[in-house]
Amino acid sequence: MSEKIYSRIIGTGRYLPEKILTNHDLETLVDTSDQWIRERTGIEQRHIAAEGQTTCDLAEQASLKAIEMAGIDPATIDMIVFATTTPDKVFPSTACLLQQRLGIRGCPAFDIQAVCTGFVYAVSVADQFIKTGMAKRVLVVGAETLSRITNWQDRTTCILFGDGAGAVLFEASNQPGILSTHIHADGQYEDLLHVPSGPSKLPQSDDIAEKTMAMKGNEVFKVAVNTLSRIANETLDANNMTKDQIDWLVPHQANLRIITATAKKLGLSDKQVVVTVNKHANTSSASVPMALDEAIRDGRIQPGQTILMEAFGGGFTWGSALLKY
Ligand code: UT7
Repeated sequence: MSEKIYSRIIGTGRYLPEKILTNHDLETLVDTSDQWIRERTGIEQRHIAAEGQTTCDLAEQASLKAIEMAGIDPATIDMIVFATTTPDKVFPSTACLLQQRLGIRGCPAFDIQAVCTGFVYAVSVADQFIKTGMAKRVLVVGAETLSRITNWQDRTTCILFGDGAGAVLFEASNQPGILSTHIHADGQYEDLLHVPSGPSKLPQSDDIAEKTMAMKGNEVFKVAVNTLSRIANETLDANNMTKDQIDWLVPHQANLRIITATAKKLGLSDKQVVVTVNKHANTSSASVPMALDEAIRDGRIQPGQTILMEAFGGGFTWGSALLKY
């Protein structure tokens, strides 16, 4: 009987652009306050890409750090899966642009678009390829320059988002790694969280609101909290595991209140939850890999521990991954 193949993490990296935009800075742009933003979201600041700095630029830095941690030759990467909602170009995919930057040739490289759930979708795809023996070493990236699709005149959205990139290298192993992944979507919620136009559905006017993110925050909030605790239970059930067997929750970082509510339903203490939303707001597909990298590098997450990653976003899309580090 052939041995079971798992996807194991061998390296992680993150990169945040230098420029920081604080809540106080936003007070000068829109009718808001540092206190309102902190109380409703937990956000204190966000990083913003410099003029000309692209999603691929951020992803390249994060990927180089993951490659350095793993101590591997980039030429041995045999697949790149890149989650983003803010690609550099309509095409080629940002994965192909990154492949070129890393000096790799020939391996498959493609983008995944599942908005804030993009990284979890990308991990799920990578895991299918590794488990079936189709790939041995996969670079999974989540990177965004959301500042480019933010309406800086809309106080209900512009306070929420930031730019950044996270990267994780997975390798085939006979030791547990990823235990299961679960991905879902329900397209009926299109209008609750979206950018109204795109390359095929052209804007009808010059109104900036047509080209930037629009969200009915309150409605998204309620669905997000319910969906995230449901997916956590689905994940545990699939593995015949109980809540107390989770060491770490590495959630998508949209709103501290959503994170706290999910952790509470799982019976996890604050110390078992990786929170970064205060420092870099919602970075969509970059948020989970950046949080993971932070907690691995500062030594909170230790080898052998069990991690639940989960995310919810536009689509709606949602998903989870349970893994041993
Ligand atoms: O990553 C994808 C998933 N995204 C999310 O999960 C985000 C989910 N939603 C949220 O995080 C929250 O709904 C928000 C942070 C966006 C909003 O918080 P809320 O507690 O749901 O507030 P609200 O939308 O119900 O607005 C409450 C009040 C309103 O005023 P009135 O109508 O009560 O007079 C808003 O106009 O707060 C007002 N408001 C603001 N006030 C100061 C909205 N934005 C701001 C602002 N500063 N930036």
